[in-house]
Amino acid sequence: MPIRLGVPREIEQGECRVALVPAVAERFRKLGVELLLETGAGAGSYHPDSTYNGVTIVSSAGELYQQADLILKIQPPTEAEIAQMKEGTAVAGMMLPYRYPERVRKMRDRNILSFAMELVPRISRAQGMDVLSSQASIAGYKAVLMAADRFGGFFPMLTTAAGTIRPAKVLIIGAGVAGLQAIATAKRLGAMVEGYDVRGATREQVESLGAKFVDTGVSADGAGGYARELTDEEKQQQQGVLETHIAAADVVITTAAIPGRPSPKIISKAVVEQMKPGAVIIDLAAEGGGNCEATEPGSQVIHNDVIVFGPLNVPSTLPVHASEMYSKNLLNFLSPMIEDGEFNPDWDDEVIAGSTLTRDGEIKHAATREQVEGSAP
Ligand code: NAI
Repeated sequence: MPIRLGVPREIEQGECRVALVPAVAERFRKLGVELLLETGAGAGSYHPDSTYNGVTIVSSAGELYQQADLILKIQPPTEAEIAQMKEGTAVAGMMLPYRYPERVRKMRDRNILSFAMELVPRISRAQGMDVLSSQASIAGYKAVLMAADRFGGFFPMLTTAAGTIRPAKVLIIGAGVAGLQAIATAKRLGAMVEGYDVRGATREQVESLGAKFVDTGVSADGAGGYARELTDEEKQQQQGVLETHIAAADVVITTAAIPGRPSPKIISKAVVEQMKPGAVIIDLAAEGGGNCEATEPGSQVIHNDVIVFGPLNVPSTLPVHASEMYSKNLLNFLSPMIEDGEFNPDWDDEVIAGSTLTRDGEIKHAATREQVEGSAP
């Protein structure tokens, strides 16, 4: 029996993305599955129901959850959504288990098979499934546009009859996927760009984009290619060098994150007070509390004439391509599990096993199990 794949409308406030765009729906159809879409699910990303060829449109989430065997989501399903799913349903999406342990418990108890897309191992083979990367690169791009929109000057150097305009100085802190995309975007707009990260490997990546690397002498490469938390001594050394670069910048974009930890605080209020009036900070780490002490997640504040903006859910502000990339990530992840319309995951596969959060009434992800059930495996 072909499985029925269902796409509900995202109910989270301000979420404009959809987990399946029409072009990718077509690709799923070729795998032999049946497709169901809740009416209006694609509206926020400008995909009206009529553009989903060969997809059955259902009028309510309740109807969708009663019929679908595999649900595609962007935001973690709420307890109310989980309650509507049939027992044994599979669901793939962002799950944020650390933030929502009670939802994990509910999925376990309802025997839901859940795949947390953010847990897909970051190995070469899985790059096309990596929603963290696809959405982070959108955030990095958009952060630069948000900064340019708020900054009172040009980004590029301009030679005009009214004189020569100096290019804006842009500093990007954290050179992961978002930071590198921000560097590339600020360069395209003609700014003078500097990049900084605590991982040594990023120097070459920053420089290959034509930006200058800020060397603080601190290197903090941690496990799995991620950064580790800095010691107090390292923080002080980092601060000393960074402060002068921050004070000289017109725009600072911060993206620093440490997996499973609150965002490191890199810019104190005192340092913001050293910045030029009209300077702009876009704090992409706002979701995890922010890299800047003055950041109020989800809002824009003016601190001592410096504009500090900590936007939340930035990928949703570019919903067309965010949805397209996310849908392709899901297709790449799920298609190896679908054969002739049937769902048949290989549980020994490293990528599938690594991203399985709950299955057969158990929490499979060790760290989450420990958090929710309080015992090590
Ligand atoms: P992230 O979103 O977890 O963090 C952003 C950046 O902040 C990182 O570059 C981190 O080093 C930096 N950071 C942390 N603390 C900092 C501090 N105190 N000061 C300055 N910078 C700080 O990172 P993202 O973008 O998820 O990438 C991290 C790693 O994952 C990299 O090694 C990257 O190469 C790897 N990766 C692997 C992929 C794959 O193989 N499929 C795909 C994407 C990323």
